[in-house]
Amino acid sequence: MRPEIERAVALLRRGELVAFPTETVYGLGADAANPAAVARIFAAKGRPADHPLIVHLPAAEHLARWARGIPAEAEQLAAAFWPGPLTLILKRQPQVPNAVTGGQDTVGLRVPSHPLALELLAAFDGGVAAPSANRFGRISPTTAAHVREELGERVPLVLDGGACPVGIESTILDLSRGVPVLLRPGAISAADIARVLGSAPETVAPHAEAPRVSGSLDAHYAPRTPLQLVSSDGLLFALRNALVAGERVAVLAPTAQAIGHDLVTWKQSPAEPAGFAHELYASLRELDALGCARLLVQQPPAGENWLAVNDRLRRAAAGSGEDDET
Ligand code: TXA
Ligand code: MG
Repeated sequence: MRPEIERAVALLRRGELVAFPTETVYGLGADAANPAAVARIFAAKGRPADHPLIVHLPAAEHLARWARGIPAEAEQLAAAFWPGPLTLILKRQPQVPNAVTGGQDTVGLRVPSHPLALELLAAFDGGVAAPSANRFGRISPTTAAHVREELGERVPLVLDGGACPVGIESTILDLSRGVPVLLRPGAISAADIARVLGSAPETVAPHAEAPRVSGSLDAHYAPRTPLQLVSSDGLLFALRNALVAGERVAVLAPTAQAIGHDLVTWKQSPAEPAGFAHELYASLRELDALGCARLLVQQPPAGENWLAVNDRLRRAAAGSGEDDET
């Protein structure tokens, strides 16, 4: 075993935290079978203790240790998308700690595809509970440096696997209710799921699940700079207004810089959804660090391909401009 993985496994076995890369975002991991270890996650993140965590497994074969009454849909989706960015909510086995499930009768499970995550999970040979490795309510980390910025010495080890390829959190599908329900959009779309199951999952209204699905709270993925979503016309209008007011502005838009000005920092965003998602959190972090009065983001097109990105942008806008995590 590589020394870095050996050290990570030793820390997990001792009930300590290890941050690690997944294909979506970096996770803040603890031994999911150890309630005291899981409690450390909530303390490090400053996250309310009733918010459930996703348990990361080394392989789909581990499902039955954590879930019961596993429906055929779960097996089909696991075969199609694991390892990969899909979390399944299933009825939990009784021994799954309440600290992991937020006291609910269900548990969120996924097998991530990042090679370093898989190496860690295989070596640990158990479930690792891991939310995104950010302080509660802030932007999810997609590099090891972001994790250090967020959590500093609160986490003894950060495994560095480079920039996360997907860049936004996993799709969450609830299979505990009889009919599949999409709780959080992600890189695996409703259409992808429909291709496997034969019909599209139901979706929930954005606010219906809070705080059970903490990602559905609006104050999530949020920069400190007030973030405004604008159309392409609205962008130029808002930009002119800000400049008239003498404000420094950061812009994230798919076009090349339209207005050159000392007060404007312009960042061009990828024109397709996967590229946009991959860069999204790093771009928000970079622009947020400038300390501008305003962050203007040109809203990507509506439509299924952009659903997950638009979901994160909407939440980032809603939660932005706060001094503290809520
Ligand atoms: O891509 C991801 O899913 C990343 C990486 C690290 O795997 N993890 C992640 O974790 O985004 P977190 O804690 O930031 O978001 C997990 C979401 C939350 O919205 C939580 O409420 C929901 O999963 N969740 C977990 N268990 C659940 C359950 N039993 N029922 C409903 N929602 C659940
Ligand atoms: Mg999160």
